[in-house]
Amino acid sequence: MNTKSLGWTELNFTQIGLGTWAIGGGGWAFGWGPQDDTLSVETIHRALDLGINWIDTAPAYGLGHCETVVGQALKGRANKPFIATKCGRSWGSDRKLFPALRKKTILGEVDASLTRLGVGVIDLYQVHWPQPEEEIEEAWDAIADVVRSGKIRYAGVCNFNVSQIKRIQPIHPVASVQPPYSMLVRDVEAELLPFCAQENIGVVAYSPMQKGLLTGKITRERIAEFARDDHRSRDPQFLEPLLDLNLELVNDTLRPIAERNQMTVAQLAIAWVLRRPEMTAAIVGARRPGQIEETVQHSTLALPEDDLHTIDHALRIRQESIQSR
Ligand SMILES: NC(=O)c1ccc[n+]([C@@H]2O[C@H](COP(=O)([O-])OP(=O)(O)OC[C@H]3O[C@@H](n4cnc5c(N)ncnc54)[C@H](OP(=O)(O)O)[C@@H]3O)[C@@H](O)[C@H]2O)c1
Repeated sequence: MNTKSLGWTELNFTQIGLGTWAIGGGGWAFGWGPQDDTLSVETIHRALDLGINWIDTAPAYGLGHCETVVGQALKGRANKPFIATKCGRSWGSDRKLFPALRKKTILGEVDASLTRLGVGVIDLYQVHWPQPEEEIEEAWDAIADVVRSGKIRYAGVCNFNVSQIKRIQPIHPVASVQPPYSMLVRDVEAELLPFCAQENIGVVAYSPMQKGLLTGKITRERIAEFARDDHRSRDPQFLEPLLDLNLELVNDTLRPIAERNQMTVAQLAIAWVLRRPEMTAAIVGARRPGQIEETVQHSTLALPEDDLHTIDHALRIRQESIQSR
């Protein structure tokens, strides 16, 4: 699989990274319902065997559980992938997440992640959310110290806007940003992507298949069967009125284009994200080996211009329809 350097860093990431949010399982506010850990380990092994060379995780995913499962999967593996994890979301005995970016919290989080992951160094350490916003400079200063200590190789941010990145850049160079980006969430196109290109900051896009909606396999029946602790049941993209528009986009526009290009809808959705030159990689979530087997194929192919125009036109009509409601 093709690799790209992550902005100005020496990390060469495959254009598909494995996303592990769903591997955190259920039992917390942003869970994905029950998840079998054996299947999760098999999924991680399959991703690595298919050539994916980096994994994105976070302490928040399953409240430490996801990092532990990633650590188990990596035990004894000869070729270890790059590990990207995060900080800035803490939880108490009530299992509720809260934002926390104070220096003391960050220092504790780094050590806890290293232990759960069973590694001596974290390749990419990312602030999960710019919240509390008044603490981002303190967090970044703490992270810069940890980079100097050797426990972290590079530091990046998730969900930051350009002005927030500009606030922390003088403290320590920003290696990467991790924003949401899919056909349904395109906010980064106007300002963030051009800024990252100009500053040579790596971009790793999350939820490229909009949490499974853009795989062509989500139906109203499937949504009705989501586990009670699958947070997607509360996600507006999976609820009316957006759901109707989203299923129409998938069935009327994306499915025929995917078929014409001998791809699946999921592969088309990822290829669409990777069409942007600013994009280092797409973080592709999977919870079963078969899912990553599918999405790793064809999704780095260039899409024909006329198909890109057709998708753009359909997305514009969808947007107008949302605005007119
Ligand atoms: N920094 C942040 O704030 C942030 C936020 C969100 C995500 N992320 C990262 O980005 C990663 C990717 O985003 P994501 O997991 O939200 O969404 P995604 O990659 O758009 O979708 C992943 C989900 O789609 C379904 N899926 C995957 N492959 C499939 C296939 N071949 N056929 C059918 N269904 C398939 C699976 O769920 P089901 O099988 O249950 O349908 C899977 O969990 C996350 O795992 C996480 O590492 C970061």
